[in-house]
Amino acid sequence: MGWNSWNSFANIVNSQIVQQQAKTLASNGMKVAGYEYVVIDEGWWLGERDAAGNIVVNAKQWPAIRPGQKDGDMANIAAYIHSLGLKAGIYTDAGKDGCSMYPDSGPKYLNTGSEGHFEQDFLQFSEWGFDYVKVDWCGGAKEKLSGAVQYEQIARAIQRAEKTTGRKLYFSICEWGSQNPWFWAPGVGEIKSSIWRTGGDIIPPVVESLHDVEHDKRVITSGNVLDSFDAGLHPEAQHTDYFNDLDMMVMGMRGMTDALDRTHMGLWVISSAPLMVGSDLSRLSPATLSLLTNEEALAIHNDPYGLQPIKVDEPALGIQVWAKPMAIAGRRAVAILNRTDAFTQVTLNWEKLGLKGTPKSSRDVWNRRDFVSVNAAVSVPAHDLALLIVDGEDKTPAEYTANQTDITGIQAPRGPVFARLNYANTSGHVVVLRMKNTSGLSTAIALQPTVGSETGTIGLILPKGTADLSFEGKPAAIRRLDVYAW
Ligand code: GLA
Repeated sequence: MGWNSWNSFANIVNSQIVQQQAKTLASNGMKVAGYEYVVIDEGWWLGERDAAGNIVVNAKQWPAIRPGQKDGDMANIAAYIHSLGLKAGIYTDAGKDGCSMYPDSGPKYLNTGSEGHFEQDFLQFSEWGFDYVKVDWCGGAKEKLSGAVQYEQIARAIQRAEKTTGRKLYFSICEWGSQNPWFWAPGVGEIKSSIWRTGGDIIPPVVESLHDVEHDKRVITSGNVLDSFDAGLHPEAQHTDYFNDLDMMVMGMRGMTDALDRTHMGLWVISSAPLMVGSDLSRLSPATLSLLTNEEALAIHNDPYGLQPIKVDEPALGIQVWAKPMAIAGRRAVAILNRTDAFTQVTLNWEKLGLKGTPKSSRDVWNRRDFVSVNAAVSVPAHDLALLIVDGEDKTPAEYTANQTDITGIQAPRGPVFARLNYANTSGHVVVLRMKNTSGLSTAIALQPTVGSETGTIGLILPKGTADLSFEGKPAAIRRLDVYAW
């Protein structure tokens, strides 16, 4: 959760803008709600290195902020962000050139990627004080590199940098879903947590201070938001600490209405997608801010299983019910998405939510109150979204017990299902469990190390069909898998 400079400031980003945004994040209620990263995207570096290969930045763009600091030192802005109790993020590319070769405005710059300098650059980011790094794919795509290979090398360089500085450097993979990252990104290079982008950009940036013909005509539509959600659904690859990234948010930006803000927030939280707000935080309306900081919505987002939702019902074309299993037994987050031009009312089918009988309670998250009757129809205006938390009783699961390693023939004949996996991984490293399904799907499931006799637990979404689970590389032990019929 945090803020990213790209959507609203594109490549005109500088120290003053980042300071202003960070200050706003720290004081408008977002920090308290859990937004913590302030990420500087493309445009911070123009491709210059010194004779030793060290990155050199423009001293005017990144001047000293406090007495005693040097102009042109990225440690200044990282320290400023830290002084507000926030974490700092930076950006590079997996190839030689970065996306500055395709500038949103102004001149183009080459050599803004880290290829050939992975050790040096990731250590440098960490030494400057950055806590997060987004690694883009413009140069990687241009050179036709393998994402799995580049991002594995980067993951290892990041972990070496972390070891040297003692500072966690969170890994944000941005190869736009172009090489099926769900196949390889979870646990790549034994990384203990990461996000990976699943699609192209939600919008071309809308920079309010740039009054050129191009920026003036940019307006966000519901299509931008819905397309990113639809392209981002790879629920089989997502689980605790490893997340599909639906892209930076556009809450409150030009073209967004309250209904579209609700739709956007609802879809991102129910997907446990990174909530990296790309808006100009100084322009957020009270309504947008209240959505972004709705603690009940954020609790859905922060559920320890961190799963994506399953589409459980579509009672009429464009009226969709999405449900996400949560770590508390019998709890579901439910989003009723109305993609149509007409107001609708939906009565939920509890059986389709995998519940036994009628639930005990159903809560309206936007209005922070329980529905008077759990069986009452829920109203959803045109192009809007209702968000609910439902508490009931899970149906009894089918139980699979592995002989320490693989499980084969896991059945989900009617559609995707929710499963809970108990495992032990005493290898000291992240291990990858591969899920293969009769539909041809192959996904990496990364399992964190466990200690002693401790049992690790993750939630999983298994796709329709029959699936097999088997370890890749280092093995660990599967203790038990409970598969819930939905
Ligand atoms: C790519 C990424 C965006 C942003 C821009 C910067 O398009 O997908 O998120 O980082 O590059 O140019």
